[in-house]
Amino acid sequence: MRYTYDPTNDVFTKTTSGSEEEKRLAGESAALIVEDGNIVGLGTGSTALYAIKALGKSIDQGLDIKGVSTSFQSSQLAKEAGIPLLRLSEVDRIDIAIDGADQVADFNLVKGGGAAHTREKIVAAAADRFIVAVDSTKVSHVLNKPVPIEVLFSARTVVTSRIEKMGGIPELRYSIRKDGPVSTENGNVILDCDFGEIKSPPKLSKEISDIPGVVDHGLFVDMAHEIHIGNKSGVEIKNR
Ligand code: 5RP
Repeated sequence: MRYTYDPTNDVFTKTTSGSEEEKRLAGESAALIVEDGNIVGLGTGSTALYAIKALGKSIDQGLDIKGVSTSFQSSQLAKEAGIPLLRLSEVDRIDIAIDGADQVADFNLVKGGGAAHTREKIVAAAADRFIVAVDSTKVSHVLNKPVPIEVLFSARTVVTSRIEKMGGIPELRYSIRKDGPVSTENGNVILDCDFGEIKSPPKLSKEISDIPGVVDHGLFVDMAHEIHIGNKSGVEIKNR
């Protein structure tokens, strides 16, 4: 979830792109896939929130699952929803992971708007099925959103230089309610890197991963198995 600060009224308001209704439809549709006994990866963000809430309601009606959270936010939501949690280190595989995305083109994604992509990627990669839930504004013919890159604090300047040499425009992500950069839950910083139109997501993904100091990045290449897109008339589901 993103927040915008209004200095006149000294308030923070949640800013989300896309319709709340479409997010709800997509998140709830993804949650329907979960079955009794599943270990479920719980994504982060304003769309994953609806899936987590829906799973909580299903648990009230008897569904027996355990969740693995991808962030502080998803842990908190899961606890509120009554979803029993396992630590990531307690599992060696996951049945289904459900998460949102900042942009979707085919089965490739840009994620990390909430700076949780490192853990989100670990959870998605461990899952037999990775289900992505998005509103219709997230769908694109090509990935062209800035790619969030989690970087060791001490490596930020050398990684910045490497990204610039690759033709990217890196921008250190700043906090809203604290002076200085965003610190991830792993204690690192985020460089939002604009590469324009990403012609080859696999190539760019490998190039970024190869830079020493990079922890992980928000390009999820060919990881999604199913995409649930909320739109005005319901939910469109894309399968591989
Ligand atoms: C967090 C993420 C989110 O899934 C992504 O930013 C989409 O969020 P939202 O559903 O709020 O638009 O990658 O790191």
